[in-house]
Amino acid sequence: MNRHLISAGDLTKDDALLILDTAEELARVSERSIKKLPTLRGRTVVNLFFEDSTRTRISFEAAAKRLSADVINFSAKGSSVSKGESLKDTALTLEAMGADAVVIRHGASGAPHRLANWVHGSVVNAGDGTHEHPTQALLDAFSMRRRLGSLEGRKVTIVGDVLHSRVARSNVLLLDTLGADVTLVAPPTLLPVSVGSWPCEVSYDLDAVLPKSDVVMMLRVQKERMNAAYFPSEREYSRRYGLDRDRFAKMPEDAIVMHPGPMNRGMEIAAEVADSARSTIVEQVANGVTIRMAVLYLLLGGESA
Ligand code: CP
Repeated sequence: MNRHLISAGDLTKDDALLILDTAEELARVSERSIKKLPTLRGRTVVNLFFEDSTRTRISFEAAAKRLSADVINFSAKGSSVSKGESLKDTALTLEAMGADAVVIRHGASGAPHRLANWVHGSVVNAGDGTHEHPTQALLDAFSMRRRLGSLEGRKVTIVGDVLHSRVARSNVLLLDTLGADVTLVAPPTLLPVSVGSWPCEVSYDLDAVLPKSDVVMMLRVQKERMNAAYFPSEREYSRRYGLDRDRFAKMPEDAIVMHPGPMNRGMEIAAEVADSARSTIVEQVANGVTIRMAVLYLLLGGESA
C-alpha cells in the first residue's frame, strides 16, 4: 500500500481488499466491552479539519484512540488560520509536534496532495472540496459487503448531487476496482462535465434504474456549495430524484439504502426510508470507525491484523 491515502483511485484491488479484510478483523475489537488495542502506542495522529464534520472527525479520533495512538485535534476555527497562517505553515507546525499521520479535511480540492509534499508522515484525505473522500468509499464498500457479500457484479445506483460530491467520485472509483457496476442518476445540471470519463453508467430516470439495483446510495444536496439554481425548486427535485416510500417499493426486496450523511430528510430521502430496516445509514457510521482503524493500522502499524 502507498504511504498516503489521498484518492480511492490509488488503491489496487488487493489494497482495497486488504483494508476491508483488516477492518473485518478489527470489527471484533469494536464489539468488545474494552475497545482498545496497543498497536499504535507512541504514534501521534493529527486530525486537521478546515471544514465542518461530525462523522469523519469523530470516527478518526475514535479509531486512533482505539489503537492507542496519541491524538491531536486541530480545527481551523479558533486557530491561527484566522490570522492568515497558511496550510503549509500550519502543517509544518503540527509536524514539529511529532505527527506520524495527518488526517486532513479541506475545502480546496487537492489540499491533501499538496500536504503530502510538505510533511514526512502519512497523509489521509478526509474529504477535499468536491474531489474525493476515500475513507467514506471504503466504509461504504465495507457496509455493502457486510450486508450483501462480494461486490463483484453488484448493481450500485448513486443518486443526486454528483457535481458537488466527493463521496460519489471516490465510490465510483473504488466500486469499479472491486468489480461492482455503478450507475449515477442525477439531473444533468448536477453531473460534472467529466462524468463521461468515469467508469460508470449515467441515467436521468431513477424509476427505471431502481428495480435493477442491489444498492441505492442517496447523496446529500449540498446547498452550501451551490451558487446558482441547479433545479427549479426543492419540491421539484424531491419529486424527480428523492427516494420516497413509493420509489422504495420499486426496489428489489433485498436491496439496501445508503446515505453518507448528513441527510436532508424529506428532500433526497424520506424519513421512513432512512429509518427502515433496509437502510444502512447508522451501520455506516459504526463501520466508519472500523475502516479508519484499518487504514491507520495499515499506514502506521503493519501489513496484517
Ligand atoms: N459523511 C461525512 O463525511 O460526514 P461528516 O461531514 O459529518 O464528516
